Amino acid sequence: MPRHFLTLLDLSKEELATLIKRAIELKTMLKSGKIYTPLKNKVLAMIFEKSSTRTRVSFETAMYQFGGNAIFLSPRDTQLGRGEPIEDSARVLSSMVDCIMIRTFAQESIEIFAEYSRVPVINALTDLHHPCQLLADIQTYIELRGSIQGKKVAWIGDGNNMCHSYIHAAMQFDFELAIATPSSYRPDLNLVSSANNRVLLTDDPVQAIANADLVCTDVWASMGQEGEQDQRAQLFEPYQVNSKLFALARDNALFMHCLPAHRGEEVSADVIDGDHSVVWQQAENRLHSQKALLEFLLSDQEI
Ligand code: CP
Ligand code: NVA
Repeated sequence: MPRHFLTLLDLSKEELATLIKRAIELKTMLKSGKIYTPLKNKVLAMIFEKSSTRTRVSFETAMYQFGGNAIFLSPRDTQLGRGEPIEDSARVLSSMVDCIMIRTFAQESIEIFAEYSRVPVINALTDLHHPCQLLADIQTYIELRGSIQGKKVAWIGDGNNMCHSYIHAAMQFDFELAIATPSSYRPDLNLVSSANNRVLLTDDPVQAIANADLVCTDVWASMGQEGEQDQRAQLFEPYQVNSKLFALARDNALFMHCLPAHRGEEVSADVIDGDHSVVWQQAENRLHSQKALLEFLLSDQEI
């Protein structure tokens, strides 16, 4: 049975810790000019049913740097967009390639795909989760501040896919997560209760951000919710991460955003472009952490 990465819970705490350590090592190796090609002749298929800049470029670059190849597949020009069953697509693609990365809408679609796939399947964002982004976020925190265990992370804004993956991260990396959302945009409550006491839910951004070590936000309307943009913008206005709100976090708090960002909406320009923001390092780390993930899932060598 192949290992899949559909949520952060698919790897153990120990595996995740090793993977982040490896991501930092791979980054150092790349920056020192070392050529390392453990995935020669391996092929990654990348299915994108939603747009992407970072995810596509980081996975494609990761495969090229590792000596392998990546194939970009969009529903517009494959049979996936013409209704070929997920089960059939999974059987066929996994008979040819070594790993399949999928960005789609329903989490259930990647679960079905994984069930019928003979090779590892990676969740590159669904409506419910974005686990690859969390690898980069945790790597970034550890690089800059050391262990995240026991720290306070504030999630301000929408209880969306990123928020859900932060809940998993709180469980796997053992930190306290304070989530502030409007009451009608809370994250999945089953997920919150499965996180035991690590998650605090509130509609008060001040309570969530107070003394936080890390402050995170994301767009108010995710891909697929563009029609709700105006209505959401009104309701979410008190949740903007601006310098007044950010001042309540710890003095050395970091600001993260998975990007793309909307300055003047979920975050003010002075925060995202300010001294506490680490969004560019966070984006770059998509490359290094996903290389560690691909190596873990695909290479015969122990990491
Ligand atoms: N953060 C992120 O997943 O970005 P893209 O949508 O550009 O891939
Ligand atoms: N929540 C956002 C994340 C984009 C990387 C979305 O799903 O559109």
